[in-house]
Amino acid sequence: MSFSPAPLAGYDGGMNILRNFAVLEGPDGSGTSTQMEQLKRRFRAPGAALPPLYATAEPTGGETGRLIRRALKGEPALLGETLARLFAADRGEHLYGAGGIVERSGRGELVICDRYVPSSLVYQGLECGEELPRTLNSPFPAPELILFFDLDPRTAAERIQDRKEHEIYEYLEFQIKVRRRYLSLLPVFRSEGSAVVQIDASGTVEEVAEQLWAALENMPIMKG
Ligand code: TYD
Repeated sequence: MSFSPAPLAGYDGGMNILRNFAVLEGPDGSGTSTQMEQLKRRFRAPGAALPPLYATAEPTGGETGRLIRRALKGEPALLGETLARLFAADRGEHLYGAGGIVERSGRGELVICDRYVPSSLVYQGLECGEELPRTLNSPFPAPELILFFDLDPRTAAERIQDRKEHEIYEYLEFQIKVRRRYLSLLPVFRSEGSAVVQIDASGTVEEVAEQLWAALENMPIMKG
């Protein structure tokens, strides 16, 4: 199975933008998963004249994604390069596998993914240098919309300190670099054709949800 995007419906000329596809990005503890739950609720509300929502996340629940989840907990301990390759392999399945992102966005579903290529460029970029994650992810389409959840890394760390299990990237010094690298890459994502919206993730769940909604409403698919 090749990673080359066979069905061209939904692709945007030379830019390789996948329409109807938005991603949530940000440092650990910035609240993307909480907001995904809010979104699902909003789309389920009776009477809402909205497109069908496919809410999904990376790492996925597939075989490769489950291996990644274990490695993020430290067992097995893998090289940064190996993780970079696993994230890309998981992503290829997620995009092009049956019932995946390309298929669903192509048939008019709004696909929203909690983390995507930008996470690899930021986290694996920090861990094993820019080149490998760039190369591994270069065949993949860019999202129509990137929603960057911006939050002071100290506040984010406080939010996740009560979690039972901690992952290998969840320490303050690394998260400070994560935020910095996201901020430096946002103009690059824009130049590659994605719309990028910065969300102030320091507010209440409701306040953040409103900002998110305002950004999503600008997507053509939301206008019917
Ligand atoms: P996250 O969504 O924060 O998981 P959880 O809900 O369990 O907190 O993602 C798990 C971690 O994986 C997070 O630290 C970011 C990291 N990650 C990468 O390093 N590269 C990637 O390509 C992706 C998708 C995630």
